[in-house]
Amino acid sequence: MLTEVVKIEEKNIDEKAGEELRKAGEIIKEGGLVAFPTETVYGLGGDALNPDSSKKIYAAKGRPSDNPLIVHVYRFEDVEKIVEDVPEAARKLAKAFWPGPLTMIMNKNDKVPYETTGGLDTVAIRMPNNEIALKLIEQSGGYIAAPSANTSGRPSPTLARYCIEDLTGKIEMIIDGGQVGIGLESTIVDLTSEVPMILRPGYITADMLKDVLGEISIDRTIIDSSSTQRPKAPGMKYRHYAPKGQLTIVQGSQDKVVEYINTMTKKAVLDGKRVGVIGTDSTRNLYDAEVVKSVGSRDDEKTIAHELFKVLREFDDENIDVMFSESFDENGIGQAIMNRLLKAAGHNVVTL
Ligand code: TXA
Ligand code: MG
Repeated sequence: MLTEVVKIEEKNIDEKAGEELRKAGEIIKEGGLVAFPTETVYGLGGDALNPDSSKKIYAAKGRPSDNPLIVHVYRFEDVEKIVEDVPEAARKLAKAFWPGPLTMIMNKNDKVPYETTGGLDTVAIRMPNNEIALKLIEQSGGYIAAPSANTSGRPSPTLARYCIEDLTGKIEMIIDGGQVGIGLESTIVDLTSEVPMILRPGYITADMLKDVLGEISIDRTIIDSSSTQRPKAPGMKYRHYAPKGQLTIVQGSQDKVVEYINTMTKKAVLDGKRVGVIGTDSTRNLYDAEVVKSVGSRDDEKTIAHELFKVLREFDDENIDVMFSESFDENGIGQAIMNRLLKAAGHNVVTL
């Protein structure tokens, strides 16, 4: 299949871009697939109400079909048409955070095929905060099912380049809207349990949700790495975000972490390995490895969220065999950062 790549600037959707988006919408309405930017990561979109489209999404990603997809809408009133009833909490959260990086799980109605929800009676819904995405959803009939636009298991794409790498030849179109703003996938909150529960941490933190709802719980399996229970979001059980090389997270005081990583680097180099290190702006110059990348500043964790997946992909681009990463505080968005980093490392952590 020929994959067309079109460039659209989010801040300048002119007539030509509008025409491209209409065309992209037609592709989705006819059962095809289009990768597109959102504010979190790039999505791989198909018609959420068409079971064949969802099947195609699983095939293009190489994703197990018991892992449900998120349905993207462009206006709140469309939620009512695909769920049994809209919980009060959903109205409050939408008012506070939509369009934005929050996905809400509700009981689905018959309009949503089981192919889209991986066989579940619930559906995950979000309204992304990106003009390209919103216009595309509108042009596509109102409901786009979209997982992150990567081959299953690889780090989510924050640049169109990585969608092109993973999906060329497998889908009809890729919309290049530049680097995404946030860089980590949306927070997922389940509204079908008595107390709303966070199933995947993200940019919208537990405290922010608590401010709106008063009460919030969190699926323990996603923060307790020794838990043997199944996470409630089926996708969280899979190995994920993984770079090709072996990644180890190193925890401890800065001096000890730097010393340990430099010692391990020397050993790995003697074994003929290429080594990469994930540091921060203030530590990057302390490492001896051939490739050292900063994910940003500890004083501004948003920069770390923004860069993390990109850096993991760059290590793959440079054929790095062994990687070490500093560890990050789990406050606020740090919880989402460490959740993704731990998965990328297969929970391989050294504590000094
Ligand atoms: O930011 C995002 O959410 C991005 C962009 C493209 O919107 N999408 C995304 O989709 O991250 P994906 O498919 O990579 O991750 C969806 C997660 C999976 O872990 C899946 O198991 C969970 O959402 N999920 C979807 N529907 C669910 C449901 N009904 N119940 C529980 N978990 C669900
Ligand atoms: Mg994903």
